[in-house]
Amino acid sequence: MPNTTLPPGPKGLALVRPLYHFTHQPLDFIVSTQRKYGDTARFRFLKFPVYFFNRPSLIEEILITQSGKFIKSADLREGSRVLGNGLLTSEGEFWRRQRKLAQPAFHRERVKAYAPVMTSYAEQMLETWSDGEPREVRAEMMQLTLKIAARTLFGADLEADTVRIIGESLAAAIQQFDARVKTGFLLPTSWPTPGNIRSRRAVDRLDEILYRIIDQRRNGHAETEDLLSMLLSARDESGAGMDSKQLRDEVMTLLLAGHETTATTLAWTFYLLAQNSRAESELFAELRAVIPSGVPTHEDLPKLRITEAIVRESLRLYPPAWAMGRQAIEDCTIGGYHVPRNTTIYMSHWVVQRDARYFDEPEQFRPERWMDSLQKTLPRFAYFPFGGGPRVCIGASFAMMEATLLLAAIASRFRLTLAPDQTIELWPSITLRPRNGIRMLVSKR
Ligand code: HEM
Repeated sequence: MPNTTLPPGPKGLALVRPLYHFTHQPLDFIVSTQRKYGDTARFRFLKFPVYFFNRPSLIEEILITQSGKFIKSADLREGSRVLGNGLLTSEGEFWRRQRKLAQPAFHRERVKAYAPVMTSYAEQMLETWSDGEPREVRAEMMQLTLKIAARTLFGADLEADTVRIIGESLAAAIQQFDARVKTGFLLPTSWPTPGNIRSRRAVDRLDEILYRIIDQRRNGHAETEDLLSMLLSARDESGAGMDSKQLRDEVMTLLLAGHETTATTLAWTFYLLAQNSRAESELFAELRAVIPSGVPTHEDLPKLRITEAIVRESLRLYPPAWAMGRQAIEDCTIGGYHVPRNTTIYMSHWVVQRDARYFDEPEQFRPERWMDSLQKTLPRFAYFPFGGGPRVCIGASFAMMEATLLLAAIASRFRLTLAPDQTIELWPSITLRPRNGIRMLVSKR
């Protein structure tokens, strides 16, 4: 007999209100769903079945054991308007081949070589900071990590103007993505609405920059074998290389995925440290002992234990990827529940990583929890800021190294405190952002 057990959920015609709640206040929606129905819940959004699975063992089934039965969810596929068919959004054999091509750029030894680039860009940024002035840290971190990603992965030195254009264009494209989330992606993107027009223009401006980076490399020569040279020299079985559009999609994906997540993590980290003086002084004591020069190197990383624990704890409380979605491509059974083909399943880091069953005092910022054996005793997928399984974040070690080095470099030289008169509001967009950024006062150590 086929399994027909379904997760609990609202009965009858309670269809529209949950969808509105989910698209307008997603964090509140997923938390209240967990409270009401538990780890598993079922809804119908318009005609589509949507499940929420927030139990580590079920997440493991979806991301690993039965990963072949799922593709990315439609909202992520919507991201292809900007990202194209790159690593994050592509599927099947095509994705596998592209992942294999990109993987060497993220091997341990390669990533190690990026460390000096990261710290030297941090130094450049810190030279522009003056004692006692206010800075919007998320914007600062976005510029810094964008320059680092462009340089390490694509050998491009972005000028200030280009960084500004990329920032503005991404903001415009994301604003339109958010507007479309609120309408359930129902209106066609081909309609000439002001939002669609703005978004298309933003993508055109980004394309201009990306094609310039690609053309410069095609016509010049690389100092190092970076990711862009690897992609350019890749050949398929018939000897054909990647066309410009495919290169553009991969470059766009890595540039976007490779900077905004780490930048947001650092911004939340400074926000958390500003409210936790004990963690802040322990961090400074470690930095003074390990890197008296104030410039960390790759060799210092194993000794920066508190610094790394702070990054981990920040990723637990403010995970940039606050939920991940998958769509079933065939009928299947997950955790004993029937999942019909085309069901969308969301798994939320925001919910699981703040669950008291896995973390003591889950709402508290306690980096020291990562200093003992917690990682070994946690159920797999009780903490999964970088996802898992075949589609695990390709840049996870890059990001951990970058966040730890940048935090060490910045906190050695400056103390950041929250500027007065601001409310920090959560904005669960493509990543979990502070809606109006975070204004902080920077004081020299
Ligand atoms: C704190 C920083 C970061 C976080 C929290 C993060 C999180 C994630 C998550 C959760 C996924 C899986 C998405 C899914 O399965 O649906 C992912 C995928 C991905 N990430 Fe990251 N990421 C970070 C940094 C980076 C960096 C630095 C890069 C590149 C330099 C990067 C590139 C990618 C790519 C290309 C994918 C798609 C991989 C694939 O499907 O094969 N990410 N990331």
